[in-house]
Amino acid sequence: MTILSTQDVNNRQIQTKCAELYIVGDKMKFFKDYYPISIPQGILFYPCTGLDIIEPIELFADTIREFHFADLIPFTLPSIPKESLLASSKIIKQGYLNPKLYQIIIDVNNKYLTINWHQTDAIKVLEKLNNISVFFYRGDSIAGSGSWIYWLGKELLPKILTKIVNGGLIITDGSNPDEDYKIHPWKELYLHSQLGHFSDNRIITPNNFTYNNRCFTCLGPLGKRYGTVYAWKVEFSD
Ligand SMILES: C[S@@+](CC[C@H](N)C(=O)[O-])C[C@H]1O[C@@H](n2cnc3c(N)ncnc32)[C@H](O)[C@@H]1O
Repeated sequence: MTILSTQDVNNRQIQTKCAELYIVGDKMKFFKDYYPISIPQGILFYPCTGLDIIEPIELFADTIREFHFADLIPFTLPSIPKESLLASSKIIKQGYLNPKLYQIIIDVNNKYLTINWHQTDAIKVLEKLNNISVFFYRGDSIAGSGSWIYWLGKELLPKILTKIVNGGLIITDGSNPDEDYKIHPWKELYLHSQLGHFSDNRIITPNNFTYNNRCFTCLGPLGKRYGTVYAWKVEFSD
């Protein structure tokens, strides 16, 4: 029998609440309303974004000032639900800084957010970015219109980790690990999605783990994309 600590019980209650909030389609809240932890200063980076920009901005509009999205397609603003925090935001400035970078500055509740849209290979964008406090990645695949890029694979994940600040977050549904996905020490990031949903419908709850001198703590679910999206806190273990 497993004996749970008070912290475990609290975490599980928070997790259930978060999942429920998304299921009933409640008004979008900030990430901190689901997981009240401090988020270190830095940027949000979301490679292979497609049209999925509204929720990441809403979740972190209170803490992050600089957002970077990367996709091969030109910037397209998806329709903003009227109850969205962004529906009442004001565009202060927008335009191309160069042929591959579209920038929009918006005023959300008197805070200026800078949204950068890199219309180029997201791997090249990653190389240029630093101080990532949120790495956001979901809804991608190695089929059809997916990027076919192994963002959670053995080449890219270590690179991403070098860019994430201590205490930063990885928010992912576990899209696109590489072909060795069953053996990687970081497999907890994606097994729930790769095995649980596409293979035999097992429900897999991720466990905390350490890898690359970092402790990965699963804070809990944050909605669904291709399987459950989980939020992970990544802290240096030394
Ligand atoms: C399946 S869509 C996922 C969109 C989004 N993540 C979502 O959840 O809706 C994959 C996206 O990756 C983009 N993509 C493909 N190759 C890419 C690359 N090398 N760099 C950046 N984006 C790329 C495609 O244009 C497409 O928008």
